[in-house]
Amino acid sequence: MTVSTPSPLTSDADWWRSAVVYQVYVRSFADSNGDGIGDLNGIRERLPYLRDLGVDALWLTPFYTSPMVDGGYDVADYRDVDPMFGTLGDFEAMVTEAHALGLRIIVDIVPNHTSDRHPWFTAALAAGPGSAERARYLFADGKGENGEQPPNDWESIFGGPAWTRLPDGQWYLHLFDPAQPDLNWRHPEVRAEFEDILRFWLDRGVDGFRIDVAHGMIKAEGLPDVGFNSMTTGRRQSELLGKGRLPYFDQDEVHDIYRSWRPILDSYPGGRMAVAEAWAETPQRLARYIGPDELHQAFSFDFLDATWSTDSFRKVIDTALAEATIVGAPTTWVLSNHDRQRHVTRYGDGEVGLRRARAAALLMLALPGCAYLYQGEELGLPEVLDLPDELRQDPAFLRTGESRDGCRVPIPWSGELAPYGFGPAGSELSWLPAPATWRALSVAAQTDEPGSTLELYRAALRIRRTHPALAVLGGITWLESDPGVLAFRRAARDAALTCVVNIGETPVMVAGYGEPVVASAALTEQDGAHLLPVDAAAWFTRHTG
Ligand code: GLC
Ligand code: CA
Repeated sequence: MTVSTPSPLTSDADWWRSAVVYQVYVRSFADSNGDGIGDLNGIRERLPYLRDLGVDALWLTPFYTSPMVDGGYDVADYRDVDPMFGTLGDFEAMVTEAHALGLRIIVDIVPNHTSDRHPWFTAALAAGPGSAERARYLFADGKGENGEQPPNDWESIFGGPAWTRLPDGQWYLHLFDPAQPDLNWRHPEVRAEFEDILRFWLDRGVDGFRIDVAHGMIKAEGLPDVGFNSMTTGRRQSELLGKGRLPYFDQDEVHDIYRSWRPILDSYPGGRMAVAEAWAETPQRLARYIGPDELHQAFSFDFLDATWSTDSFRKVIDTALAEATIVGAPTTWVLSNHDRQRHVTRYGDGEVGLRRARAAALLMLALPGCAYLYQGEELGLPEVLDLPDELRQDPAFLRTGESRDGCRVPIPWSGELAPYGFGPAGSELSWLPAPATWRALSVAAQTDEPGSTLELYRAALRIRRTHPALAVLGGITWLESDPGVLAFRRAARDAALTCVVNIGETPVMVAGYGEPVVASAALTEQDGAHLLPVDAAAWFTRHTG
């Protein structure tokens, strides 16, 4: 028997500043019991894979008791695990085992809304208009002679009106699906409940929280109309997200909530952190979520909208680094997540998309700050575009025709037949089918395979952990380069690492930055210089001391 020595967690309370966090979409990561659904024990079995990949922490999407209308972002019990995913005991074992491997655990918290099956909401429905039970949510009478029109013109992010009318005549607000009623965060019981929920999970050893819809909890007093809606303009209100003022997002009072949460986090040892999924009109307003008395991070989502061009990437990077300077906290980089089309596909899909996605990974991982990886990006998975409609489960699909299921297809681990080792040996089930092309993309197929995307990520993460120039927090230095090329340097006292990305149309000669240590495509050496192909990136290092 071999006894491995667990690498303990670093004692650094600032671990999150430069961490690589791996997002686990629990339902699609690994299935331990063969029901076709990923679960906590599946994650436990794969912890060594994540340790070997070289990430620092996992962020788990919601695994709480839920009717799963919105993939678990509709929580019915915030203090328990849905039987589909396991038990609280499994969760506790997972945290212990992850910590023993040096991996931290971030859980998702969903405070803007509950499930309509949450006991508070069922009690509110039973108790009727004007009751204390209804005061915890946002119930209102409608407009019009008989209250037959919604209280205002707010629209759901998933399409359609944000209000649903009950048989007793009242309406309730749901910024997402009707099965996700919005809580009233001006109610003291709501605030007390969530402070207690934070403690519940902190007591179980979690290292941080990802706060869902962190900008949404407070709605403007009087619930005023937006004045811009599908009825009047033919364009969806959600187009204003992150661009304009909305009375249901980014209200000043939301910051009071985080000022009350921070002392709770700080009262636990070991650097417990929180990252906001927040959308705000300007970088300045987004920056207000971050600071010593509020949250540690807010996702920088601009990479998700960046196109494959030097201008677009430079703008995203410069903006995010400027934001980081405003708040004095390093930025967070995100190329993909469970809500967006995978970046292989965004960059052109197929061969081209994959080449660019590999280059983008080296670009992101060379930047200062914290990087969030989405499960499967280390395998170069594309979006699955041809899922049959009847299998799609995203509640937005029925309302808008847009579906996020294509980035949530179960991970291929091994073997010749779908679902490629997603479940235990012999299991043929997976809640969404994996395409036949994923056989070649499985973890087993890519492990130890020179040039595979998985080995590229492993190599880059290993260098990121050990190279002195990447350990330094702070800025980057842009270097002069040919049009179509991005080049920047990170420097420590006696070593420099230069990242060069060729976004242009011809191969470029790279010289003077030292030796290549990792490249997303093969380099050819010519007279001491290196030829970097199109749609590729490489890191070069040299000693400067
Ligand atoms: C966040 C989640 C998304 C979910 C929504 C409602 O945007 O990332 O998946 O549908 O919140 O909770
Ligand atoms: Ca399962």
